[in-house]
Amino acid sequence: MKGRLITFEGGEGCGKSTQIRLLADRLKSLCHKVREVREPGGTPLGEKIRDLLKHDPAGRGMAPEAELLLMNASRAQLVREVVRPALDAGEIVLCDRFFDSTVAYQSGGRGLSRESVDAVIDQAVGSTRPDLTLLLSVSGDEALRRVAARSAAAPALEDRFEQEKQAFFDRVEAAYAALAAAEPDRIRVVAAEGDPAGVAERVWQVVKDVLPPILGPA
Ligand code: TMP
Repeated sequence: MKGRLITFEGGEGCGKSTQIRLLADRLKSLCHKVREVREPGGTPLGEKIRDLLKHDPAGRGMAPEAELLLMNASRAQLVREVVRPALDAGEIVLCDRFFDSTVAYQSGGRGLSRESVDAVIDQAVGSTRPDLTLLLSVSGDEALRRVAARSAAAPALEDRFEQEKQAFFDRVEAAYAALAAAEPDRIRVVAAEGDPAGVAERVWQVVKDVLPPILGPA
C-alpha cells in the first residue's frame, strides 16, 4: 500500500515545525502511521550535512553551487534511507522542507538557474514527489519577530541563512509565490498568522482530503 508524502514549506519563522507537530499528533490520534523528517537532515549523514550548511564555520563563504549539491546530497540519502521505505510501508511522511526549498532558496535566493537546480533535484528525488505541499505564509514582520525570539532562546547557534539580508528573503518569497501559482493543485497556501491552533485547523482542512486508509496493527 502506498503512503503519502506531505511537505511543509515557507520562509524563516513561518511556524512549520509547530504545525508539523500538531498535524502528526492529530494523525496519530486517528491511528495513522506517521514519520516526521526535516531537511536538510533526517538521517545521520544528512544531520552532519545540515550542520555544515547552517552552523559550521567551515561553511562561511560557501559557493551557491556547493550549497545546492550539499542540500541535495542530504536529500538523496533521506529519500532512499527513510522516505521511500516509509511510503512503501503505507506511512504518512511529513517533511519539514523538500525540493521546493531548493527552488526558492538556491534558485530564487542565490540566483542559480532553474535548469541547473531542477537537474540536481531530479537526481536526488527521482520519482519521489510530494502528494501535497503546504506553503505556510506569514507577513515579513511576524516572521522577523519569530526568528528574533528563536535566536534569543539559542544565542550561541549562529545560522548562516538567518543572517542573510532582507533582499534575499524577498527573492525567496517571490520564488515560493511563483511555484504556488504554477502548481496550485499540489501546493496549497495556508495563512499562518495568529494562534497555532487556528493555523492547524486550516492545515487539517487541506490535509484531510489526501489521507491514505488507516493501517491495521503491524
Ligand atoms: P530550517 O530547518 O530552520 O528551516 O533551516 C533550513 C535552512 O536551509 C533554511 O534557511 C532554508 C535552507 N534550505 C535551503 O536553502 N535549501 C533547501 O533545499 C533546504 C531543504 C533548506
